[in-house]
Amino acid sequence: MSFSSKETIVVVGYGWVGQANALALSHINYRVCYYDVGDPKMHYADQYQNSYDTITPLSSPLEKDDPDTCYLVCVGDRVSPEGEQDIEAIKKALESLHGAKGTVILRSTVLPASLASLRFDYYVPEFLHEKKAVEECMAPQYFIVGSRNTTREQPSFFNVWQERATKTFYGTPEEASYLKYLSNTWNALRIAFVNEFGNAMALPTDQEHLANIEKVINFFFEKKSYLRYGKSFGGHCLPKDVSAFCASHEREGKDMSLLRGVWKANDAQLIIEKKYPILPEWFSEWVRPEISGRSALHALKNSVMRKVKKLYL
Ligand SMILES: NC(=O)c1ccc[n+]([C@@H]2O[C@H](COP(=O)([O-])OP(=O)(O)OC[C@H]3O[C@@H](n4cnc5c(N)ncnc54)[C@H](O)[C@@H]3O)[C@@H](O)[C@H]2O)c1
Repeated sequence: MSFSSKETIVVVGYGWVGQANALALSHINYRVCYYDVGDPKMHYADQYQNSYDTITPLSSPLEKDDPDTCYLVCVGDRVSPEGEQDIEAIKKALESLHGAKGTVILRSTVLPASLASLRFDYYVPEFLHEKKAVEECMAPQYFIVGSRNTTREQPSFFNVWQERATKTFYGTPEEASYLKYLSNTWNALRIAFVNEFGNAMALPTDQEHLANIEKVINFFFEKKSYLRYGKSFGGHCLPKDVSAFCASHEREGKDMSLLRGVWKANDAQLIIEKKYPILPEWFSEWVRPEISGRSALHALKNSVMRKVKKLYL
């Protein structure tokens, strides 16, 4: 098999984010390996079983270390019920790469104030939605890069991401982190606002009431993502990120009353959705029509590979 670049990608932490990155990069013919301390479930096997077979597991993170190796660290943070972010697993993964000859790219969500204690070359926070994660990793909505004084050359797939993204941002790791939290807190705020407004109009006791609420909300917000009346926000990221962002800034004496209100409103919606199960559940995604579906993905793969090859000729 011929690869589109001399780089080898090693994904460290092979969960939702790690697998989506690995599958997307393998799909555009990068050589991709992964290292995980656990035995992760293959989250996208229904759609990408064949692509999984092209990704090689490693028994130690530095097994393929070389100046042309790019490490994508996709290890998860944890957040306690009080909003304390625990990044021990991320720290450990980065420590396991100390002394690496390759380039270290951090993709995990980390609060701005904690980044100074971590060693990496680039911080590129991930914005994917799980329903269309692989497609979104190939053509991300935002390409946001935070770096300090790295002398390392940018990996070739940064060009691919930059070209595909609608917006690109270069700044410090802390600015990159603020953008990640800005996105997630804004998404949570919009969901909580629309739900509270809808509940103020009427409670969704039956389809007729639900339709009346949706008629008004959808006229105004045109069914845009995060602006549709329905269930509370949940999932792997919004609750933990809102909670960690509030708590860390409150500890610095900052007033977080609006975001605390979002949290409270979302808790109230949890009670309402239990009582009225007809409330719809919305999954947001960012996928441009030209990369939706198998044949569109194939066309995208060919165009990306042509561009990556040009970079190396
Ligand atoms: N899931 C999402 O939709 C999403 C979207 C955007 C950003 N994020 C962020 O990305 C990060 C990862 O999220 P996820 O959902 O993929 O988490 P996850 O729990 O699904 O995967 C993390 C993986 O890292 C592994 N791991 C832990 N310590 C390790 C170590 N030292 N070395 C190697 N592997 C190790 C775990 O075994 C696990 O398989 C989080 O910070 C999350 O907030 C997630």
